[in-house]
Amino acid sequence: MPVDLAIRDVRILDGTGAPAFEGDVGVEGGRLASVGGRVGSARTEIAGDGLTLAPGFVDTHTHDDGALLAHPDLAFKLAQGCTSLVIGNCGYSAMPASRDTPLFSTLFGRVVSQWDDLAGFRTTVDKARPACNAMSLIGHNTLRLHTMGEDRRPPTDAELATMGDAVERAMEQGACGLSTGLVYVPGRYAETDEIVALARRVGPAGGLYATHMRNEGNHLFEAVEESIRIGAEAGTAVHISHHKAAGPANWGKVADSLALVDAANAAGADVTLDVYPYTAGSGRMIEYFDLDRIDVALAGVIRLASCPAFPDYEGRMLVDIATSEGVAIEELTRRILTAPNGDRTICIHFIIDEADIETNLRHPLMMIGSDGIPDLRGRPHPRLFGTFPRVLGEYVRNRRILPLEEAVRRMTSVSCRRFGLTQRGEIRPGWWADLVLFDPARIVDTATYDDPKQEPIGVEVVIVNGEVAYEHGRHSGVGAGRLLHYQSADGT
Ligand code: ZN
Ligand code: CU
Repeated sequence: MPVDLAIRDVRILDGTGAPAFEGDVGVEGGRLASVGGRVGSARTEIAGDGLTLAPGFVDTHTHDDGALLAHPDLAFKLAQGCTSLVIGNCGYSAMPASRDTPLFSTLFGRVVSQWDDLAGFRTTVDKARPACNAMSLIGHNTLRLHTMGEDRRPPTDAELATMGDAVERAMEQGACGLSTGLVYVPGRYAETDEIVALARRVGPAGGLYATHMRNEGNHLFEAVEESIRIGAEAGTAVHISHHKAAGPANWGKVADSLALVDAANAAGADVTLDVYPYTAGSGRMIEYFDLDRIDVALAGVIRLASCPAFPDYEGRMLVDIATSEGVAIEELTRRILTAPNGDRTICIHFIIDEADIETNLRHPLMMIGSDGIPDLRGRPHPRLFGTFPRVLGEYVRNRRILPLEEAVRRMTSVSCRRFGLTQRGEIRPGWWADLVLFDPARIVDTATYDDPKQEPIGVEVVIVNGEVAYEHGRHSGVGAGRLLHYQSADGT
C-alpha cells in the first residue's frame, strides 16, 4: 500500500539535538509513518536532494491571533519554516471577546469578534483554515480591559474573580497559560498580587505564566525577580518573553539577568525564555511615550513601521523626518501621536545590543519567538518575515554562536514541550507530520528594515499536519493548521 507522502534522501534532524542521520520519511494520515530507511511507493513524492529535514519550527512569541483570520495563508510564517505559532502574547489575546479598539485593531487587524471564549474563537479559526497550527495564551490586558476598562486601580474581589474564572475557562478550553504585558495599558496598573491571583488559576491545569515584564531597561532585574516571584507564589512555570536589556545604559545586563534565572531554576523554579534576533523592538508607538514629557533619546532611535496618519513617514527615522520638516523631534513625535489614528502608529525602536542577542542565544533555555506584528501595511519590522532563517543563517552558520542541532532543538522539541504541543516537535513515528525541509548551507533571511516583506531563502518545503503547505517558493493554499489544545492526548 502506498503511503500518502514520501520525502526521500534527506538528512533527518529529529529535533532532539541528536546529530542528523540519512534516509526517507513517510507520512500517512497526517502523521509520520516511518523515519529513516527507505519508504516504498507513495502517492506524493518529494525529492529531498540531501537537504535537511527538521520538525516544523515553533514561533513561541507571536501576535498572530487576528492573522489566523485576516491572513490565514500566514505566508510570512510558513516561508520561514514555522508550522506552529504561540498566540495571545504580551497580555493581548483575541479572547475573551476582543473589541474594536485601536489596541486590538492595530495588533490584530480589523477582526470583529463573534466569540466570547477560546472555544468560540477556535470555531472561527477552524473555518478560516489557517496554514499553521496555533496555541493560545489568555492575555491579561484583554481580560482586564474586558472586566475593568482602562481603570487605574486594583480590581475589586468580584472583578478579580471574574478575571480568574475566565483564565480557568480558557485553560479548560485548551489555552496553555496566562500572558501579561506589564508595560502596557491597562496591564501596568496591575500590582504583583493581582497577577499572582490570576496565575494561580492557570496552575491546576499545569499551564504557564508568560510575561512581557514590567521593565526591560533600568529595572530589568527587579522585573525578572517579580516574574520569578509570581511563578513561585502561583505555583506556575514562568516564561520570559523577548528577553533583552533595553537602552545603551543597560547593554550587557542580559548576562546577569540570565544568572538570576539560572539561580532560580537551581533553587527549584521553572523559568524559560525567548528572544528575537534583531537589535530593534517594535510596537504601538503611543505605549512608549508620555506626551507631556517626550523621551528624546528614545525618539532618536525610532523608525516608523506603519503610520496611518502620515503614510509618507513609513520606513523613515523620526530624526530624518524632523530634519526634513524643520521641526523639533518632540514636536514631531507629538504631532504623529495626536493626529487622527495616531494611536495606530507602529514604530521600530533600536534599543538592543548585538552582543546581548548572542548571549541570549547561547543560553540552553532560550527559545525563538519573532514578536512580529502582522500589520502588512507600511514597513513592518523584518522579524515578521525573517526571524527563524536569520537565526540559522546568521547566528548558527556565519557566527557559530550555537550548533545547528541545538538551534533546531530549541525551535522545535523544547518549544513544543514548553507550550504543550503534544506529539509535535520531534521527527518520530506516530507523531504529527509538521516538517521543514531546508538547506543549512543557504538558509538566511532577506527581509530588511527598508524592504521587510521578503521571504527568506533556503527553506524548500514546509508540511503542516501531513499536507504540503509550501514548496520551493510557492504557497499551496492548503490550510491544514489547527488551533491546538494544550497538552492534549492526541496532539490536536
Ligand atoms: Zn511584548
Ligand atoms: Cu509581543
